[in-house]
Formats: sequence, structure tokens, C-alpha cells
Amino acid sequence: MHSRQKLNVCLPVFALMALVMLLPPTHFTTPTNAQNSYQATLVIRLDQPRWTINRNIYGQFAEHLGRLIYEGLWVGEGSPIPNTRGLRNDVIAALKELRVPVLRWPGGCFADEYHWRDGIGPRDKRPRRPNASWGGVDTNAFGTHEFLDLCEMLGADAYINGNVGSGSPQEMMEWIEYLTSDADSDLANLRRRNGREKPWKIPYFAVGNETWGCGGNMRPEYYADVYRRYATFIKNHSGNRIQKLAVGPYDENYNWTEVLMSQAAKQMDGLSLHYYTLPTGNWQKKGSATQFDEKEWHATLVRTLRIDEFIQKHSAIMDKYDPQKRVALMVDEWGTWYDKEPGPDMGALYQQNTLRDAIVAGINLNIFHKHADRVRMANIAQMVNVLQAMVLTDKEKMVLTPTYHVFRMYRVYQGATMIPIDLSAPEYKFGDTSVPSLSASASRDGEGRLHFSVVNLDPNREVELTATISGGTVSSVTGEVLTAPAMNAMNTFDHPNTVKPALFGAFKVQGSQITLKMPAKSVVVLELK
Ligand code: AHR
Repeated sequence: MHSRQKLNVCLPVFALMALVMLLPPTHFTTPTNAQNSYQATLVIRLDQPRWTINRNIYGQFAEHLGRLIYEGLWVGEGSPIPNTRGLRNDVIAALKELRVPVLRWPGGCFADEYHWRDGIGPRDKRPRRPNASWGGVDTNAFGTHEFLDLCEMLGADAYINGNVGSGSPQEMMEWIEYLTSDADSDLANLRRRNGREKPWKIPYFAVGNETWGCGGNMRPEYYADVYRRYATFIKNHSGNRIQKLAVGPYDENYNWTEVLMSQAAKQMDGLSLHYYTLPTGNWQKKGSATQFDEKEWHATLVRTLRIDEFIQKHSAIMDKYDPQKRVALMVDEWGTWYDKEPGPDMGALYQQNTLRDAIVAGINLNIFHKHADRVRMANIAQMVNVLQAMVLTDKEKMVLTPTYHVFRMYRVYQGATMIPIDLSAPEYKFGDTSVPSLSASASRDGEGRLHFSVVNLDPNREVELTATISGGTVSSVTGEVLTAPAMNAMNTFDHPNTVKPALFGAFKVQGSQITLKMPAKSVVVLELK
């Protein structure tokens, strides 16, 4: 029995309501008879709506890395690959379907070596610079104007990551003036001469990236002061209002959060968190993207679920200094990170993407919704051809990944209201470790439609899930499922549709109850009216 239900008996209603507000919105328990019956229950508390799921949780990240910017997005105006002002049409069309709300650029580690003046003005006059973080030479053909053109094509807000590691506050301040000022000043006029009359809106600007590592190897005490200094020179021009973002922790680096929040919370609007899922947890031998057994599947999901604990603990520290939750936690790098695959070199950090990645994506997004009162942005790493990408390209060919399909199915959550759930599911065990077999989330959108998503982590067992809508009835249900026969099913350039969503019909409705058969290793999103 849920502890919440036990308390129901002995507490007066007002005390219970206060307690309900404090309890985590998702609640896992193992039902006594569930281990063998593969039955699960879900209560969707439609009568207890919570916070808005900020659409920026569906954000993306595009770094000058491997074949992400060059070839993945930018092919140049003279390319035989169909393009609009140099940006490839097929990739843009696919990404538009995802309704990308916000795009982070130019890094990552690259951000702390990037000098914005290299990427403006006539392209044939731009300097060629070594990409010291990821190899190769950057022609700078893709710079400020091209990035903001991309954002406008996608309808995405711009999140620019400034250079602290090798740049100055003056360089940062001048970039912001160039971008956002409508004055008759030298920098605003330079922008006009470069083809952009009106200033851009830049809502998010970060002071460095991973300053505990590639961004300068700083101690948190030192970075807190550096952050305060640089943030002072992030000025608002001509009605633009910038949210200032500080470099936050990785994984369980709680001391970083403690120091930053105690010393610089007043100067920041957001603090980042980076967490990558490595199947083995070992950076020297991370595991293969495509060749894995059930042991590694299970280990990947165990490590994915850890982000829930990291968010909870970093949020608890933030709550001490910012109980009003003014400062957002922005998970601006997350996703899977595997070893380089054998075979032809497809560029730095290129990796294939399988059904396992779709499961990882669904779990993460469900967790972000649960914490969306504090987590108000997340940026999967990365958009094209790098790490857990939406889209892979090979010259003129493009393929949509299983992760892309999850982002497309889940886009209904963008800006919707989080509805708390109580999920009671059997454990999925492997060896000595176990995880809940299901992960779920629910929301109600502006038109009153209820959506819920369920991920079955177990690659072997179907689970029969009975969902009860508390405070609502069901008149119509539509849904989609993403699954495939093999754990490592993937889309390739020769077989691009091996993993793709299908209509989901394995459910029965009765009053306010819906019973669904969740296929093994699947992601389901349902819409209820
Ligand atoms: O996403 C790849 C790299 O991972 C980023 O450049 C860096 O910030 C992180 O370590």
C-alpha cells in the first residue's frame, strides 16, 4: 500500500492536502503479487494538476564537433545537397517536426575557445582555426548570423554559450551588444553592414561551459567569482532580456552546487547540470552503441535512472538558497555516450542510436517532467551526428533515429501542465540489481487533452497496466507505440524505417479506467479526451 493512502485514514483533509503538495509527484512501489503476474497500476491524479512543463525541456544542443555543424546542418549555398541559405532542407524539415523550443550553441568545450568575431562578415574572409577540442579545422562559415538564421527557421529560441576559458568579459559584452542592440553604435552598425538590420532576441546566455573541466579547470570558489564578474557585463539592450546561466555541476558534484548557490545565486537565472549515460560507467571503455547484451541494456537503464537522484539532491541544495525556485536547473547536456564504432570514421563522437536510446530518452523526459518545477530547460547532446542525435547524415542521405521518434511522440508535453501519478510496477531484475519495469508521466495540455507516456524497460516481458484517471473519465483514446523485435534495432541509411512509431491499439477503456498491454521494450504515448 502507498504511504500516501495510509496517511489518508488518520489526517484531516487540510493536512493531507498540504502533505500531498510536498510528496514527490511520482511514486514507485512493488505490488506484492506483481513479480509473477506482470501486472502494474497507474493512478493519474487529474484533479491535482501541478507545474507547467517548460517547453525548453525539449531543447537541443549543437556544438562545432564532428559532423554536426558542417555537413549535419550547414552544407553551404553552393552545395548539391538541397539547402536554404546554406542550411540543409531535409534536416531542417525533420527538426521542425520536433518543435525545437531552444537551441544551445556553439559548445560545449568548443565554446571556451570560440571567438565570435571569427564568424561574422564575408565568409571567404573568415579565418580558418583549428578546433582544439574536437580536431579538424573550422572554416567559421557557420557563425553568429548562420546560427540565428537556423534558430529562426526552426522557430527556436537562441541559447548562446559564452567564452570564459579563453575569452574576456569585454569580448562577451561586445558580442551581446552586436547581437541585441538597436542603437546607432559601432557594433550594432557592424551587424547591419553584415546583413542584419534588426537586433536579435537572445533570451539565454551562459558564462562558460564545464569550467570545472575543459572550460578552465577551475575550483568552484574561483568560478563563483569569475561568474559574478562576467555576469555583470551581460547587459540588456533595446528591450532584450537575457537570462544569465552559470556553469553547474556534473553528476553528483554537490559541492559545486553548494558553492555556486551560496556565492552567486543572486546573479544567476539558471544553473546547468551535465549527466551522460555510459553503459559501463567507465569513460575508458564506455560500451558499444550497437553491440550489447541484456546485461549492458540493464546497466544502461540503471545509470539512466540515476539522474532522478542527482536532480533531487542538487535541487535540495538549491532550495536552501532559493526556496522560491527562481533559479532554474538546466540540464543542458544529457544523453548516451558510447565508444566509437569500428568501421569508417564518421566524425568525432558519431554514434548509432538504437531502441535502447529511445528507452533512455523516454525515461529521462519522464524524470524531467516530474521535476519541472526546478528543471526548466534540458538540452539533449546533441542534435545531429553527435552522441544521442535526432538525425544522422551521410553526405546527401539522412535518417531519423529512434530518439527522434520519442521526441516527436513526446512533443505534446511541451508547455503542458504536469499531472502527478502513482505508479506501481513489477521490478525488472538482472543479476543482483533491479529497476522498476515501467517509467511513466502524464500532462494536460491547453485544450484539456490528457496525455500519458509509459516506457517498458523490460526487454522480455509485456506488462498489463491498468491506469485509473482520478477526477476524469475517458471518451476517446488514441496513441502510438515505438518498439522493435531486437534491443539493438536501429535505423540505417539502407534501412531507415526499422524503428518507427506505429498506431497503438492494445488497450481497453471502461469508465475512468484504461487497461493497456505494454509490449516489452517499448515507449507508448496516449492521448485521452
Ligand atoms: O557533448 C560533448 C562534450 O561533453 C561537450 O563539449 C562538453 O561540454 C561535455 O564534456
